[in-house]
Amino acid sequence: MFEMKMSNSETVELFAERFGCKPEWLVQAPGRINLIGEHIDYLNGLVMPAAIDRYVRMAVRENGTERITVWSDGKSGSFGWQDLKPFKGADYWMNYIGGVVEMYRREGIEVRGFDAVITADLPVGAGLSSSAALETATAFAVETVAGVKVDPTRRAELCRAAEHEFAGVPCGIMDQIAVGFGQKDHALMVDCSDASISPVKIPAGISLLVSDTRVSHALGDGEYRKRSESCDEALLILEKPGWREVSREDLSKKESELGSSLFRRARHVISELNRVPAMKDALVKGDLESVSEIMKSGHESLRDDYEVSCRELDLLVKAAYEFGFENGRVGSRMTGGGFGGSTVTLVREDSAEALKAHLESRFRAEFGSEPNCFITPIADGASVNSIH
Ligand code: GLA
Repeated sequence: MFEMKMSNSETVELFAERFGCKPEWLVQAPGRINLIGEHIDYLNGLVMPAAIDRYVRMAVRENGTERITVWSDGKSGSFGWQDLKPFKGADYWMNYIGGVVEMYRREGIEVRGFDAVITADLPVGAGLSSSAALETATAFAVETVAGVKVDPTRRAELCRAAEHEFAGVPCGIMDQIAVGFGQKDHALMVDCSDASISPVKIPAGISLLVSDTRVSHALGDGEYRKRSESCDEALLILEKPGWREVSREDLSKKESELGSSLFRRARHVISELNRVPAMKDALVKGDLESVSEIMKSGHESLRDDYEVSCRELDLLVKAAYEFGFENGRVGSRMTGGGFGGSTVTLVREDSAEALKAHLESRFRAEFGSEPNCFITPIADGASVNSIH
């Protein structure tokens, strides 16, 4: 989808090559991991993502026309904003751009034409929010060219609306908030009922290791939507206004009425809602054993109750726990939508390389292929800079 492994300056150079002049602005929007609170953002739950030091970059120049022209990884597209409709087939990737433009237009913002080159060193389709990064980069480009600034929470909502209506994924707000509000060295505890954010500092000496299985997930493939529909169905049976009002006792009382599948979906939601504040406490206290336990039970719940994991993710998590707490591993779990994608692992800094090598070798032995494992700082959210 993108020209891979590009830095800021390379993205600027690529723009000059494609369009024959220098860009005016360079936008960068990071990917994200999620430490805990999975598949509950669309249920007004609590989540704890963090932005990572891998980006979608967009070099931009106003073109004085009524069209937006984008070039990315050998593909290009051009569209005006009269009568914008979702893109299909090979142009599907353009939904993340066109959808955002349409939402800004509906917001009453006077969109102006621009040319853009998009690159990324953020793996695509790896559960690390490349879609939200591209949406947010587009939002910054639209705002900068139009000379307006939208409230950042509203910006996240407009990006999510683009994902719903154009990309066809009924996602929550977590990714767009993480990409927009990321804070260096902090995870963000987000209450998705009102998008309020409490930053949580990651204890000193702890590194973040991301392991991409390279099993490409496709959130649009229907399973994501099915999970969210099952939760709506379960909530009706539970006769509660929202998930935050459901207790474990309420759930047990309705076990037979729910049936095995809905019961387990609901059990994931309720247990995961409890894990997020517990994780915050554990991180604040520096209680790493609890962090380890919380991430482990979060993964098991996604694997067994919510059924969104896969063999490759399970193996990586199992291998991380084999490595041992006493050897520096803190916690590990799948991150993002699942059905492929990545795991996130917290590990003591001086053990990070050894754990990475262990995961790579266990994965290779089991599946005969290479995962993409990388250690990354926790980064700030999206930004735009003028090019001089
Ligand atoms: C995807 C969605 C998010 C969230 C996660 C699962 O990343 O875009 O809104 O639901 O899956 O936690």
